[in-house]
Amino acid sequence: MKRNIIITGGAGFIGNHVVRLFTNKYSDYHIINVDKLTYAGNLANLKDVENNPNYTFVKADICDLDTILGIFRKYDVDGVIHLAAESHVDRSIKDPFTFAQTNVIGTLSMLQAAKTYWMEQVAEGKKQMSDFRFYHISTDEVYGALEMTNPEGIKSDISDHTVYGKELFREDTKYQPHSPYSASKASSDHFVRAFHDTYGLPTIVTNCSNNYGPYQFPEKLIPLFINNIRHRKPLPVYGNGENVRDWLYVEDHARAIDTIFHNGKTNETYNIGGFNEWKNIYLIKVLIKTVDRILNRPEGADSDLITFVTDRAGHDMRYAIDSTKLKRELGWEPSLQFEEGIEKTVRWYLNNQEWMDTITSGDYQKYYEDMYSNR
Ligand code: NAD
Ligand code: TYD
Repeated sequence: MKRNIIITGGAGFIGNHVVRLFTNKYSDYHIINVDKLTYAGNLANLKDVENNPNYTFVKADICDLDTILGIFRKYDVDGVIHLAAESHVDRSIKDPFTFAQTNVIGTLSMLQAAKTYWMEQVAEGKKQMSDFRFYHISTDEVYGALEMTNPEGIKSDISDHTVYGKELFREDTKYQPHSPYSASKASSDHFVRAFHDTYGLPTIVTNCSNNYGPYQFPEKLIPLFINNIRHRKPLPVYGNGENVRDWLYVEDHARAIDTIFHNGKTNETYNIGGFNEWKNIYLIKVLIKTVDRILNRPEGADSDLITFVTDRAGHDMRYAIDSTKLKRELGWEPSLQFEEGIEKTVRWYLNNQEWMDTITSGDYQKYYEDMYSNR
């Protein structure tokens, strides 16, 4: 069946993997990538799909309600996968207003446009509300921080992995965001659920753990540190490096999004995670070892790059997701072992130095002008 699907934030890190998966897998879908192209949006991430007949790029701000409603009407939109957001905690500490604007007002505008368009369609007898789907991508950071009750690590009850405390984030864990980023995402999640409860909009929310893999903007830990190790630049470890994150390979997240968009239940929340907790300092040592091995440097040659710096304000201690609901109900689980995922990721960044150079020099933003301004 022909379906017109908006993916917001498709030029960003996770978005480009979702756009690629959907355009390649569903030739009968029309994928409309709506992205403002902020500093984090890079159309060069989508070079391999930009000429696909079932793909359209629209440069637009999700906060601009009239424009978004126009896109719904023009493309007769059947579904939304909403990823566009400001996504970096450190930026949110410096500039919380931009996060409130994009993540809260932007999500609200997307919801309002969807509701307006779909209510019109229903009133005209053209569609039923149940045919629509608004899928909101969120983060585990809305749940706050878990305690590290077992700093040495213990074996998990539900997976083969080491955990640093028995408690994990579940779908019913209470929201307790700490950073301006997570507060803005929490607020957007509440708006999504409110639009279901108030107007009957068919919505789904997922809360995912830290993603890693190709095309991540090099302000986030993994790409930043791979690039610094390569160039033998200092690695700024916040605090004592003991903080724990649960890492998921980005293509596994994209697969989960595909599964949930098609088979998830309306008005449900699903947690998505890697069952893969790592203390930052251990992860950084793995990155150093992997880069050094691939570049034929003596093992441990770059360990002295580790530089402990002032901790991030309000730095959440530990994130860890329990995604058994998603496994039990929809059969999804992570497919890639962490060692394999890190190897692929490190090799990708080392082999794509040009991508990294254009990003770090700011040249990537010219791609839009060259590719699209004459179309
Ligand atoms: P990103 O920062 O790499 O990309 C965000 C994209 O949104 C960019 O292409 C940017 O241009 C676009 N954008 C920003 N403001 C916009 C606006 N006003 N209008 C239209 N487009 C706009 O982010 P990401 O890491 O790919 O994260 C995508 C989503 O997934 C976010 O909602 C984030 O909260 C969520 N998430 C991310 C992670 C992670 O580890 N990266 C984990 C869980 C959830
Ligand atoms: P980040 O990639 O920013 O993701 P998030 O804050 O959403 O978890 O950071 C991952 C972890 O790495 C987090 O505990 C903060 C830490 N970190 C550093 O120690 N140094 C850095 O330069 C960065 C960017 C992050």
